[in-house]
Amino acid sequence: MFIGLDIGTSSVKAILLDETQALIASASEPLTVQRPHPSWSEQDPDGWWSACEKAMDRLAAEVPSAMAAVKGIGLSGHMHGATLLGVDDQPLRPCILWNDGRSASQCAELEASEPKFLSLGGNRVMPGFTAPKLQWVRENEPEVFEKTAKVLLPKDYVRLKLTGEHAGDMSDSAGTLWLDVAKRDWSDELLAATGLTREHMPRLVEGSENSGQLRAELCQRWGMSAAPVVAGGGGDNAASACGVGAVTPGSGFVSLGTSGVVFVTNDKFSPNVESAVHAFCHAVPSTWHQMGVILSATDSLNWLANTLDASPADLTGELGEITGPSPVHFLPYLGGERTPHNDVDIRAGFYGIAHDTDRRALTHAVLDGVAFALKDCMAALEAAGSSVERLTAVGGGSRSAAWLEIIASLLNVTIDVPADGDFGASLGAARLGQAAATGTVDGVFTAPPMSTSIEPRSDLTNAYADAYGRWRQLYPALKQAGF
Ligand code: XUL
Repeated sequence: MFIGLDIGTSSVKAILLDETQALIASASEPLTVQRPHPSWSEQDPDGWWSACEKAMDRLAAEVPSAMAAVKGIGLSGHMHGATLLGVDDQPLRPCILWNDGRSASQCAELEASEPKFLSLGGNRVMPGFTAPKLQWVRENEPEVFEKTAKVLLPKDYVRLKLTGEHAGDMSDSAGTLWLDVAKRDWSDELLAATGLTREHMPRLVEGSENSGQLRAELCQRWGMSAAPVVAGGGGDNAASACGVGAVTPGSGFVSLGTSGVVFVTNDKFSPNVESAVHAFCHAVPSTWHQMGVILSATDSLNWLANTLDASPADLTGELGEITGPSPVHFLPYLGGERTPHNDVDIRAGFYGIAHDTDRRALTHAVLDGVAFALKDCMAALEAAGSSVERLTAVGGGSRSAAWLEIIASLLNVTIDVPADGDFGASLGAARLGQAAATGTVDGVFTAPPMSTSIEPRSDLTNAYADAYGRWRQLYPALKQAGF
């Protein structure tokens, strides 16, 4: 038996798989995000841990004999979060999350003072990433910076609680910007640029390697007969790729979660900093990946649903058949944007609202706007040399067939939809747990059974290509006008 534990932005999810990777049980616990200032986004690290404890307690109560047989646990989590610990391993402040925008000026300074962020780190210095957040803390909360003994990513804080080990995997660690991504090792120069050394960092392991064992008291609490190994695991995107079998070059996925992602696997480190493509290590050895990331995918739909006092499912349920693009345009930049603009200041907006614009038209515009932004990501990946013909759908938004049809038609790809629903990152984490426990990656990262494949709709492609052409001009026009 193997467990995958995913620390998502809006919930922790634990799943239990048997040796054939069949789902035995799952449990999830909600999380909230705190936004104490405009553009800030934070979570309490101990909130992740208590949600993990509750989810694992539930599995232990529901399927005790399966829990007794657990041999491997894998972790995944939202990436880039700065979890600062003192010498006593206690958090010194709330974690600064992946979608926090406070460190824009530190990003510009770091890019100017240390060009190796672009060459060794392989990425623009963007406020989402961990290194500029530490520079912000150094400048704005020097007393916290002074006391910082270790900087961990969110899932690695959970690992510390599970095993007592300070360890991180390559895929998530690449998103700190302190990693020499080609070498899969910490870079002393990049760490020094933010006043840190290797001592502040966890030990590195591959995602499919053993990072430690579950502590004895937790084995007892959850009824495990022998201590399971805890795998390195992965950042949520690399873990999702493991969950859908996207570990060979050219394979990839499109994710409609809080963030939106177009992900493609590479056989080598392949940066393209101009279009704010993310180039990171994969969670399996000797493999890398590129991705385009938008900050607000289902977050945009959730925002509309909250504003209209409806649920996202109500809104998408009202849509009916899509016969063409919405006449209303939506820019999904609720908290700025990463790919391709790397712009923390830009904000979302609707354009084209008329007397007859109703709730359905706004929903349609939001789905289109997110799809257009994902098309921007695809264009950035293509400019970075990737070519993609099929993507697997992951994330809660992939339950909307209409949304996937729009995306398939715009990106001109076939989208495969897994039969077993949305277990992407937690499934990948469990599979990494299996690889670490059995000592092999062979046969572990297969594509799951698909329920359907969504092809580009020929009746939509031309109209959507035209609408995308107009939509793309809104961002430069807004910037020119000083927004
Ligand atoms: C990736 C990113 C997000 C988070 C949250 O760079 O910031 O996808 O991992 O899912």
